Amino acid sequence: MAEGYVEYRNLRKSFGGLEILHGVDLTIPEGAFAVLVGPSGCGKSTLLRMTAGLEDVTSGEINIAGRMVNNVHAKNRGIAMVFQSYALYPHMSVEDNMSFGLKMRKTPLHLITDRIKRAAAILKLGPMLDRLPSQLSGGQRQRVAMGRALTREPEVFLFDEPLSNLDAKLRVEMRAEIKALHQRLKTTTIYVTHDQIEAMTMADLVVVMHDDRIEQVGEPLAIYDRPANLFVAEFLGSPAMNLIPGTIAQDADGRFVQTEAGLRLPLEPEANGTVGQAVVYGIRPEKPDGRGRGGRYPPGHCVGKDRAVDGQHEAAGGVLPRRRGRAAARR
Ligand SMILES: Nc1ncnc2c1ncn2[C@@H]1O[C@H](COP(=O)(O)OP(=O)(O)OP(=O)(O)O)[C@@H](O)[C@H]1O
Ligand SMILES: [Mg+2]
Repeated sequence: MAEGYVEYRNLRKSFGGLEILHGVDLTIPEGAFAVLVGPSGCGKSTLLRMTAGLEDVTSGEINIAGRMVNNVHAKNRGIAMVFQSYALYPHMSVEDNMSFGLKMRKTPLHLITDRIKRAAAILKLGPMLDRLPSQLSGGQRQRVAMGRALTREPEVFLFDEPLSNLDAKLRVEMRAEIKALHQRLKTTTIYVTHDQIEAMTMADLVVVMHDDRIEQVGEPLAIYDRPANLFVAEFLGSPAMNLIPGTIAQDADGRFVQTEAGLRLPLEPEANGTVGQAVVYGIRPEKPDGRGRGGRYPPGHCVGKDRAVDGQHEAAGGVLPRRRGRAAARR
């Protein structure tokens, strides 16, 4: 289908009298892996919960596969959601946890058995089917939560910070597993995370939210290289982008940015802005020589690679080498 698989149209949400989502318009194509990022409290979980049918829509529309689902019951939306807390039943075995939802939906027993077998194979849970959640590690529990979502064979997967309770090593492994799963199943996925590396490496589409609205939507590298505004520029990337206030100036060689400290920073010919305009110049810390531009590094290598380039005013003698692009400072 040409239009998005999950579509939000002017979606609003209020709790009591307080509006916390101010009209979200967003289209997620079929099969995409969309990652929602944004500061705590900006409404990411609320958006997922509304999509899943766990929270009412105040106004606007949620469409899934071309169908308006505002009033469709959660269990009939074709959605499976994985939470940070796993939300497993402690008194049920792994197998029962995975089959419970299907039994509630009166799925035929042979289908349940088939699906559990398949999910257990994909997630390597076969030897653990009889165990209780308390007899599993955190990573294994999260796999059971994913297995339970898988057995639903949903049209859309929703993940709300599924890996944030895991240690760094497990997180890397699970990240790879979730990504591999997506490549295999191609199920449209919306994934919330605070982890920038997760966002940059897993997403086809990154959605940056702030103050209860969407700031920018795009491919990870496009957003990283071309942040739409200062918020996005500062939010994505660790260490953060260096932001240097200055003024656009011009000489015989063309336009450049003059900083208060006397730095002369090269400006792309296509950069907008007029001579005399006050601007903020951004330099990614890991791109001091401009080599990272144009997507030559795979996304996973674009974040947190290097030191921040501060304190270079003196070292650079006030003049930086002229290169195309914003990321052109050098010691
Ligand atoms: N049931 C509720 N009643 C009242 N306010 C709520 C309710 N649920 C969420 N909120 C408020 O809505 C806002 C968005 O919350 P939400 O949980 O969606 O944020 P989030 O982006 O997921 O944050 P985090 O990154 O911390 O998980 C917050 O200000 C929160 O306090
Ligand atoms: Mg949340």
